[in-house]
Amino acid sequence: MSESPAQSYLRLSVNGVAREVSVHPMTRLIDVLREDVALTGTKEGCGEGECGACSVFIDGVVVNSCLVPVAQVVGTENVTVEGLADGDTLHPVQQAFIAAGGAQCGICTPGMLIAAVALLRDNDEPTEDEIRVALAGNLCRCTGYGRIVQSVVDAATLVRATKGAGA
Ligand code: FES
Ligand code: FES
Repeated sequence: MSESPAQSYLRLSVNGVAREVSVHPMTRLIDVLREDVALTGTKEGCGEGECGACSVFIDGVVVNSCLVPVAQVVGTENVTVEGLADGDTLHPVQQAFIAAGGAQCGICTPGMLIAAVALLRDNDEPTEDEIRVALAGNLCRCTGYGRIVQSVVDAATLVRATKGAGA
C-alpha cells in the first residue's frame, strides 16, 4: 500500500503495545486511537476540550485526546481506558463504577475512570469535595454525579484494601 504524501508512518505505544500507523501527523489522537488502533473505549463528547470524555494518560498525565495531534505522542507512553484493567481483572475504579451504577449511557465513563485513577494514584482517601474537584473537567449529562462520586469513594476503599492486602 502506497503512503499518501500527507501521511507519515508513526510508531506509538498504547497500553504497553507498540503500534505503527500511517496517518497525517496532525490527525487527532482520539481518531487514531479509535479508527487506526481500534480502541474505541475512548469517547468523543464535545471535540473541543470541554467535556473530558476523550481523556487518556500521556506519560501519566491526563490529557484530552481530542486536542492532541498524534505526532505529539510519538515517544510517549499512552494509556487508554482499555489499559486500566490488569488482564481479566478490572481496575478497582472500574469495579466500583459497575457496582455503584456510576455509568449510564457511558459516554463520559472512560474519561471519568481515567480522572478517578489519576486522583487515587495521588490520594487514596479523598473527600467527596476532593473527588468533585478532581472530576470537574469531566461532564456527565446522565447521572447527576452522585453515583459517580460514590463510585470513586468505593474505589478508594478498594484501592486501600488492595494495598493493605499486598503489604
Ligand atoms: S471530546 Fe475531548 S474534551 Fe470533549
Ligand atoms: S453516563 Fe451518560 S454522560 Fe455520563
